[in-house]
Amino acid sequence: MTKRSNPKRSVPHVGKEYDANEFARQSKQQTSTRSWSWPVHAERAPRPPAILVLHPELMGEMGPAPDPVYGQYPRGLIAKILPWLRCERHEILHVCSGCLPRGEGIRVDIRPAARPDILADGRNLPLRDGSVAAVMLDPPYSPRYTKGLYGVGEYPRPAHLMAEAARVVRPGGRIAFVHYITPKPPRGTRFVRAFGLSTGFDMPIRALSIFEKDQRGLSLGGC
Ligand SMILES: C[S@@+](CC[C@H](N)C(=O)[O-])C[C@H]1O[C@@H](n2cnc3c(N)ncnc32)[C@H](O)[C@@H]1O
Repeated sequence: MTKRSNPKRSVPHVGKEYDANEFARQSKQQTSTRSWSWPVHAERAPRPPAILVLHPELMGEMGPAPDPVYGQYPRGLIAKILPWLRCERHEILHVCSGCLPRGEGIRVDIRPAARPDILADGRNLPLRDGSVAAVMLDPPYSPRYTKGLYGVGEYPRPAHLMAEAARVVRPGGRIAFVHYITPKPPRGTRFVRAFGLSTGFDMPIRALSIFEKDQRGLSLGGC
């Protein structure tokens, strides 16, 4: 079987490469205590999922909130998974950040409406190799969801997102991946554990899979 190559990896970054540590510092400073509500600019709130993640402790006077999306993290998920990521909460790089609020780690999304810290494709992150403490990814789970729920044209394949997360995470750093599948560990990483993630009885269950990058880092030369 021929191996599919990642079409985005061959595209060079246009413009700035970001410093993940600078975002992590800002994220730590931006934590504040306003209660959460649907953003006033949202034309219509989507049907809420069974359990909403509201992050009330993280909303502040920090400009407009991201538009709400389907498929938000269950309440308290980040706090629960934090010991497995072995880093500070503000250091986590959230790829496909959806409506995570400003101050919740370093947020990357491809849609401007998500108001991320870094507007980028998760398959081609403008970050240096090994520069991030930990990565959490919550991409759309199918091509149909990609277009229908988020209006994004191209389904980002788990293998491509995982390869890029493995590139940017530091040696020994961990990656948490939420999807209906547990992806194969990318080269230079190992599978640690998977948890079932459910929003209630009779609801579909997703896997939260954790991977760890080798201490020696990835050897990308010549491949
Ligand atoms: C399931 S939602 C994430 C929800 C998020 N966990 C939360 O709690 O709000 C999926 C997100 O992936 C984003 N997305 C889709 N394709 C992407 C890509 N190639 N790169 C980065 N983000 C992408 C969508 O814009 C959407 O916001």
